Amino acid sequence: MRIVVSFVLLVAVAGCAKSSRGASAAASASAAAMRNPASPSDGATVYLTDCSSCHQPDGQGVTGAFPPLAGNGAVTGNPVAVIAIVKNGLEGRVTVNNQGYSGIMPSWKGQISDDQIAAVISYIRSAWNNHGGGVSVLQVQSIK
Ligand code: HEC
Repeated sequence: MRIVVSFVLLVAVAGCAKSSRGASAAASASAAAMRNPASPSDGATVYLTDCSSCHQPDGQGVTGAFPPLAGNGAVTGNPVAVIAIVKNGLEGRVTVNNQGYSGIMPSWKGQISDDQIAAVISYIRSAWNNHGGGVSVLQVQSIK
């Protein structure tokens, strides 16, 4: 009888442990939703419309003229820097994969919405085997 009781207890304890793990997974999922990363699938549309003419639909750019965004550590690195480049543009020399570029990246602030900027950055950070995290509209708004 003792054995049966303790077995029942064990099952009950194991069951509790399991359900609390489930609860914490649910809590972190809702925390992620609160950070509200923009949808990369909306970003794909923005990318094809506004970026692909220079950076190319496959993100490979044009050697010597437009830097690749695929496999580019600057794109998947500090999101603040990427947001600043897309909002304010970039002029000056950048080097990607040992290739120099000194073109002009247009400023997108006021050209497309902050939502679209967040979505397109989330897209370029995760497309083509890039592994950068998404950015939220709030992050985009916080950078002038
Ligand atoms: C008219 C051509 C053109 C368009 C359109 C364009 N870019 Fe660029 N982009 C450039 C050039 C040129 C550079 C490099 C600037 C330099 O040499 O200083 C660049 C650089 C960048 C960089 C920085 C790369 C690095 O290695 O530092 C990012 C990120 C970027 N572009 C994203 C975008 C996104 C997102 C869009 C669309 C919303 C876009 N670009 C549209 C021409 C363009």
